[in-house]
Amino acid sequence: MHTSDIWVIGNWKMNPATIADAKVLFNSAKKAAKQQSQVKVAIAAPYVYVSDLQKIAKGSNVSLAAQNIHETALGAHTGEVSALMLRQYGVESVIIGHSERRAAGETDAKIAEKITVAFKNKLQPIICIGETARDNDAEFYSVVEAQIKAVLSSIPKTRFKEIIFAYEPVWAIGTGLTASPADIEEMRLYIQKVLTNEVNRQTALKTTIIYGGSVNKDNAASILKETGMQGFLVGGASLKANDFAAIIEAAGNK
Ligand code: PGA
Repeated sequence: MHTSDIWVIGNWKMNPATIADAKVLFNSAKKAAKQQSQVKVAIAAPYVYVSDLQKIAKGSNVSLAAQNIHETALGAHTGEVSALMLRQYGVESVIIGHSERRAAGETDAKIAEKITVAFKNKLQPIICIGETARDNDAEFYSVVEAQIKAVLSSIPKTRFKEIIFAYEPVWAIGTGLTASPADIEEMRLYIQKVLTNEVNRQTALKTTIIYGGSVNKDNAASILKETGMQGFLVGGASLKANDFAAIIEAAGNK
């Protein structure tokens, strides 16, 4: 892994409705990714589709991600899925602390435990951080800082190069609103500053930071160009085959 990698991660959430649609979408991403072999493309599909998608993913440069894991390896946790299980289906990374899960009650402490379990099971953590609102007093910086600090103890110093921080301002998710390129760049620098202060400069520079929140085929190229972000976490647009392909292409042209 290298800091110059550009990531495009599709977060399908609880979509699409059928496995047939999932296969079509995945195949399209695979085709687009083939043309842009320098871009790291991953798809976070619903668990039930993962086994079938693993077969399609074989030999392609699209990897499988999970949308969540439980914070333990096995046990009496009805309805949960563990990192250990996902690993057996070729899943390589996992979104942790998405705002939709935080809104459903997932705490910073749980998120830290999940990061630990992800590392133990060789899943690369994609850690979501971001403020719910932009206030005029810039309190949102403290929100993001607190979210980072809360998980730092679960990341050994030597493993920062394996994690991805996805800065996703919650107000920009699924709303069609995006933070301005200047604001996104400022936040990227701020995240690096927090990591520099809390860990060290070298580690900060090795950590991958991507943007999420209403990324689409029309804004992807300019966000990448103007913010220094190393890619995207894409929700809605990852469900539109052509749009997701265009985002992968924009990432390849960076
Ligand atoms: P969006 O979702 O692209 O639909 O805004 C992003 C996300 O939730 O990761």
